[in-house]
Amino acid sequence: MAAVRQAAWESGEDYRFEARYLRLDGEIRHFQLRAQVALDGEGRPKKVLGTFLDVTEAVRLRRRLEASEAHYRAIFEDGLAVMLVIDPGDGSIVDANEAAVRFYGYPRPVLTKMNIAAINQLSAVEIAEEMEKARSLKQNFFQFPHRLASGEVRTVHVYSGPIALEGDGLLYSLVFDVTEKLRAEEALVAKSRELTRSLEHLEEAWQQTLRVMAHMTEIRDPHAMGHQRRTAALASEIARELMWDEESVEELYLAALVHDIGKIEVPSDYLNRPGPLKPHEFQFIKEHPRAGYELLQGISLPWPLAEIVYEHHERMDGSGYPQGLPGDAIHPAARIMAVADIVEAMTAHRPYRAALDIKAALAEIESQRGRTLEAVAVDTCLRLFRERDYRFPDVVER
Ligand SMILES: [Fe+2]
Ligand SMILES: [Fe+2]
Repeated sequence: MAAVRQAAWESGEDYRFEARYLRLDGEIRHFQLRAQVALDGEGRPKKVLGTFLDVTEAVRLRRRLEASEAHYRAIFEDGLAVMLVIDPGDGSIVDANEAAVRFYGYPRPVLTKMNIAAINQLSAVEIAEEMEKARSLKQNFFQFPHRLASGEVRTVHVYSGPIALEGDGLLYSLVFDVTEKLRAEEALVAKSRELTRSLEHLEEAWQQTLRVMAHMTEIRDPHAMGHQRRTAALASEIARELMWDEESVEELYLAALVHDIGKIEVPSDYLNRPGPLKPHEFQFIKEHPRAGYELLQGISLPWPLAEIVYEHHERMDGSGYPQGLPGDAIHPAARIMAVADIVEAMTAHRPYRAALDIKAALAEIESQRGRTLEAVAVDTCLRLFRERDYRFPDVVER
C-alpha cells in the first residue's frame, strides 16, 4: 500500500490499481484502488486520497466475454468451413478466415480488401438485392459461381445471415464448394440416361425379333397371314378397355403377335389343306401352343411370354388344350387372347371354310360367355364391336 502511495505521490496523478483479496469466508474478490493526489497551493503533492471499489462482478463478466470471444474467434479462424464477414452496405469483405484464404487463393490482406463482386461476378444491384435478402433473413441460402485467384470458377453454396440481429450489422457467409458434388450428380444423370437409352434399344431389338418370328409363322401358313397381328390388335384393345396399365397391354400385344409360333412345327400340308383334318392330324395341331412355349421359353424376359402363348387355347371350364387348365389357372392375358383369337379366326378366310361375318363370330363368343370364355373379356369384346364400332386394322401383308 505504501508503494501505491509512493507511486501516486511521485507521478502526481491519479493512480489506479487492481488487486485481489481473500475474504474471511474464503471467497476471492477483486477490488480497484484509486489513489488521487491532492496538491497544495503551490502545486506540490499534499496528501493521497484512496478509494476502494469492489469490481469482482465486472472482472468476471469481462473474463467471460474474453473467453467467449476467444472461443468464437477460434471457430472462425481454425474451422474447416470457408467463412467471410461482409459489409452489406457496399459488399466489401471485412474479414476472412484461414480456410477462405486457402480456398480463394488470395493472401489475407488482399482478400480482406476485396469486394464480393470480384468473386461472385454479380452486378452491384444484384449484390445489394442478395445482401438485403440475407440481412432481412428472407433468404439465407444461395448458389453462386465463385471465381478464385487462379481464375477457376467453382460452384458454391452460401449460407448467409446477419451477425447482429438488429441494425445494419455485418453479414457472415459460410461458403461450401459443391462443384464436385454437382459434377458427380450430373454424371450420374447422364449415366442413367445412357442406360435408359440402351435398355430401350434392347427392348426394341427383341420386339423386332418377335415381329420377325411372327412373320416366319405366317409365311409357313399364308392363310393365317395377318392373323396374329389382328388378334394382337383386338386383344390389346380389350385389355385397354379393361383399364390395364400400358405395360401389361404391350405385353399382351407382343404375346399375341407370336401366339401361333408353334405352328412352324406342324407340317404345312396340315395347315394349308382344304377340307377337314383327320383326328391324328388335328391332335398334332393341338400341340402348337406347347411347341410355341418351348420355342419362347429360352427368351429371358421379366414377364411370362412363353406361358401366355402356352395357354391361349385353354378354356375357362378346363376343356381347352394342351394342358386342360381351369379358368383361374389361366393367365389373364391368355383369357383375353382366347376371345380375340376366336373372333379373328372366324372372320378370316380359311382353306377349309369361308369367312363368317362379324355378327356370327360375336354370337359364337357370346354363347361361350362364362363357360369356355371369360365373361368380362367377352363383354368387353362385344362392347367394342357393337358400341364402339371397332374394326380390325388393315394389316399390310409383307
Ligand atoms: Fe393357336
Ligand atoms: Fe391363333
